[in-house]
Amino acid sequence: MKTVLQINSSARVKRSHTRYLSDLFVQEWRCLRPEDPVIFREIGTEPPPPVSEFWIASAFTPPQDRTAAMRETLRLSDTLVDELVQADLIVLGAPMYNFGMPAQLKAYVDQIVRLGRTFTLDVSNEKQPYRPLLTGKRMVVITATGDAGYQPGGPLENLNHLDPHVRTVFAFIGITEIEFAGVGYDEFPDDRIERSLAAAEAKIRQLACVWAGGVPAFSDKSSGFNLTG
Ligand SMILES: Cc1cc2nc3c(=O)[nH]c(=O)nc-3n(C[C@H](O)[C@H](O)[C@H](O)COP(=O)(O)O)c2cc1C
Repeated sequence: MKTVLQINSSARVKRSHTRYLSDLFVQEWRCLRPEDPVIFREIGTEPPPPVSEFWIASAFTPPQDRTAAMRETLRLSDTLVDELVQADLIVLGAPMYNFGMPAQLKAYVDQIVRLGRTFTLDVSNEKQPYRPLLTGKRMVVITATGDAGYQPGGPLENLNHLDPHVRTVFAFIGITEIEFAGVGYDEFPDDRIERSLAAAEAKIRQLACVWAGGVPAFSDKSSGFNLTG
C-alpha cells in the first residue's frame, strides 16, 4: 500500500486548474490502486497561520523542555508533518501568484520545515550542517499560470520563482524526486489554454500510471543539503 497526500493551495475552488489536475491524478491513482489511502489537506481556503515569535521559540525548544502552550502552538505543524511522514506520494497543487507560490502555500511550508522533524542542524559540521529527515517519497507538483513561457528555455524562465522555490524547500527536507506538470495560458481565452491543459492531463495520467506500477522511489538517505549548492 502507498499513502497519497493531496494538497491544494489555490484560492479558487470553482475553476481552479491545479485542483482539477490534482483530482485527476488522484482519480487515476484510485482506479489503479483502489486500496491505497488518500489524505486530503486543504490549504488554499484553510491556510495554516503564519509562524509567530512564540511558534519559532517553541519549534527551537527541545521537545522534552516544551511547555503545554508550546506543544499546543506546534499542534497543527505536527499534524502537517505527520501527514508528510505518512505519505509515499505527494500531489501538490501550486498556482503561480506574483511569480512565486501563493501565501497560503508559503505558510504551509513554514509549518513543515521543522528542526528535528523534517531536517536536522549540526553547527559543528561546516560542510553539511543540514540533513533532511524524509526519505523515499515522490512528489508531483501541479502548477498553473496565467501567462506561459516560464519553463526552462522559455522567455519568462527568469521570472519563475515558483518551481525552483518548491523544489528547494522540499529537497531541503528530503523530497528530491519531484516531477512538475504545469498548465499555462489561463489568462488567454483561446485554444492555447486548451492545448496546454490537454498536455498537462496527458503527463499526469502517464505519471500516475508509471508510479502506480511500482517503480521504486529514489531514496538518498545519506545526502546532506548544501545551501550553497
Ligand atoms: C493573486 C494572483 C497572482 C497571479 N500572479 C500571476 C503571475 O505572476 N504570473 C502568471 O502567469 N499568472 C499569475 N496569476 C494567474 C494564475 O497563476 C492562474 O490564474 C492560475 O490558473 C491559478 O491557478 P488555479 O487555476 O489553480 O486557481 C495570478 C493569479 C492570482 C489570483
